[in-house]
Parts: sequence; structure tokens; C-alpha cells
Amino acid sequence: MASIVCDKLAKNYEGNPVVHDFSMEIADAEFIVLLGPSGCGKSTILRMMAGLEDISDGALHIGARQVNDLPPRERDIAMVFQNYALYPHMTVYDNMAFGLRRLKTPESEIKIRVEQVAQMLSLEPLLQRKPKQISGGQQQRVAIGRAMIKTPSVFLFDEPLSNLDAKLRAQLRGDIKRLHRQLATTSVYVTHDQLEAMTLADRIVLLKAGRIEQIGTPAQIYNHPVSKFAAGFIGTPAMNFIDCVASQENGMTVLDSGAAKWRLPQSLFAIAHGQPVVLGIRPNHMSIMGVDDESIEVQGRVDLVELLGAESLVSLLHASHEISALVPANRCPQTGTQVCFNVSINNLHVFDAESGRSLVLRH
Ligand SMILES: Nc1ncnc2c1ncn2[C@@H]1O[C@H](COP(=O)(O)OP(=O)(O)O)[C@@H](O)[C@H]1O
Ligand SMILES: [Mg+2]
Repeated sequence: MASIVCDKLAKNYEGNPVVHDFSMEIADAEFIVLLGPSGCGKSTILRMMAGLEDISDGALHIGARQVNDLPPRERDIAMVFQNYALYPHMTVYDNMAFGLRRLKTPESEIKIRVEQVAQMLSLEPLLQRKPKQISGGQQQRVAIGRAMIKTPSVFLFDEPLSNLDAKLRAQLRGDIKRLHRQLATTSVYVTHDQLEAMTLADRIVLLKAGRIEQIGTPAQIYNHPVSKFAAGFIGTPAMNFIDCVASQENGMTVLDSGAAKWRLPQSLFAIAHGQPVVLGIRPNHMSIMGVDDESIEVQGRVDLVELLGAESLVSLLHASHEISALVPANRCPQTGTQVCFNVSINNLHVFDAESGRSLVLRH
């Protein structure tokens, strides 16, 4: 068990900065997800924690120790990668036992430990098979088991599920979550998949171009994104963005999209007269049945309807904007019809058009 403190971690590759000023404290037993688009620096940060990359600047503590200059094997961490890289000629049992054998642990102890871990991961029937005799999902479970066998202080995961199909991903996501509940080992998990981040994380660290964009619980980032980037990255279907010009009229803020004017209470947003802004609305906040709170209306012509199961995704043409709305499938409007949706003012987001920063005051 260990906490992790990152103090202004930075990474340069030949003078080229790819991680800037990465500072955060990870509590003991916390499950942290580093989330962001490909190339934003997630793996680099994880590899600096693991000791697989030098730290160009800043300090990294795991537990009580500064580990900047400690080799990986002295950091008491275990890492699971996207490519599970099991030893093909060894059985599942031997793959899992490998790390402990290298530490010269007695075979009787190894046996107990392998059986414990195999039980947690439902691998008992497979212990005598070779990797090529088990499925991809099972192989990845063995890789997780191999990492767990040494009861490290910290688990590091780098996109461990991205080679698996959707159903297996969901299943293993559940396994990882249950394991964490059971073992309470401090974990840092890298993914570009916001659903994985939302479901696994105690806190998400959203990264953009090597910098922290926002740190928060999944609900905090979903409900109070600090920027258009954060708002667009979290939540599916993705948030709608509508370019507007703002003005102040008779004590109200008015957003003009060209096709509609929406009047909002001034007290909720920090918006200046004439400021170009982007209105953000989540598709699931577009209600076809009206809302109880104060609301705005969004009208348009239904361009496309996609049945997703219990819900349908409706694409609406509002001036030149395409806006999507998630509606109960049995309430779905017909293609070509004109419809009106209500959106509670409390669910609106407004961003500065240039900086992308949120202008909502209710955080
Ligand atoms: N060994 C390397 N040498 C030079 N640049 C690298 C190296 N590894 C990664 N990078 C660059 O660092 C940036 C971050 O990479 P990475 O941490 O792998 O991103 P992510 O895991 O978020 O997709 C990228 O621009 C990548 O091209
Ligand atoms: Mg990566």
C-alpha cells in the first residue's frame, strides 16, 4: 500500500517537451485513471512512475521514498500492458509463478499464492494450459494475475483492455473493479476510453497535450467540466456544441445561434456583452416531454433517427448545426418532422469560444 506524490513531473524527449508540470497526490488505495486522446502523454507519465522512463524534471514519491532514481524493480510496483506478452512455452501456472520464482520464494508458498490469485480471477480450470490454448480475455486475465502475484504497493495499467472486444472489455472492467475493492492496492490506469475511465476511476485525470486539463471524480467532470475539451471528452453520446454570440439585454444574457435566441439568467454565467461563446448541451438533457425547471427550447427538423435499443439518437438540424438528442425509443419523432426539445437551464454549459474555458458560475 502506498500513496503517490507527483511534484511538477516533466518529460522531454531530446528537448521536446511532452509532459509539463504534472502535479497531483494519489491517496493510498485510490484508483486513478489517466484519460486523454492518443499522444497526450498518458503512457509517458505511467512509465515515469514505473521507472521505465527517466524523469526530466520534478519529483516522484511512492510511499515515503523519492523514487526518481530507483530502478523499476525497487519501486514495489507491478505493471499490466496492452500486449499481455505471456511466455508462450509456459503454462498459465508457470507464467503466474514466474515473478515469485525469480525472488526464490519457496514452491509451497508460490502454490498457495497462485491458487489465491487464480481463484480471484476465475483462472483455476486453466492453470495447466499454455497461452495459445486460452482466449484473449483469459490471457489478459493471466497477465493481471501475474502482476498481482507479488502484492505490490502500486498497480500500473496501460490500456490493458484495448485489444479485447466490447463484451470482454466490459467483463474485465468489472473484474478489475472487484479486484480493487478486494485488494485496495493504489492503482493508476491509463486509457483513452472515457467509459472505462467513468466506470473504474475514483478520480479521473484528464490530460490534453501533456498538461492536466481537469482532475475530479467522474461525476464532477461530467457535471462540471471546466472546459469545452473536458465536456466533449466525457459522456456519450458527446455533448452538442452550438456557436453563439452573447449579449446583455434587460438584465438577461441572450445567446444568439443565428436560428434562435435563448434568454438566460445573468447570475449563472460570466458572459460579457458581444462575447463569442459556445453553448453546450448533452444529448440526454434534451427532453421531448418538457422539464420542471426553468428551461430553454431547442427546435429543429429531424434529419436522422438511430435506434440504439431502449433509446433512439435523434439528429436535429438547427440552422447549420447538427444537434443530437437521446430520447426514449417509444417517444421517438419521425424523420422530417419539426420538433421542439426542452433543456433545463441548470443543464446548460457555456464556453468561451476562443479559450474553451467554462463560463458557468455554479461550480
Ligand atoms: N521514445 C520517445 N521518443 C520521442 N518521443 C516520444 C517517445 N515516446 C513518446 N513520445 C512522444 O510523446 C508524446 C506522448 O506519448 P505517449 O505518452 O505515448 O502518449 P499516450 O500514451 O497518451 O498516447 C507523443 O507525442 C509521442 O510521440
Ligand atoms: Mg499510450
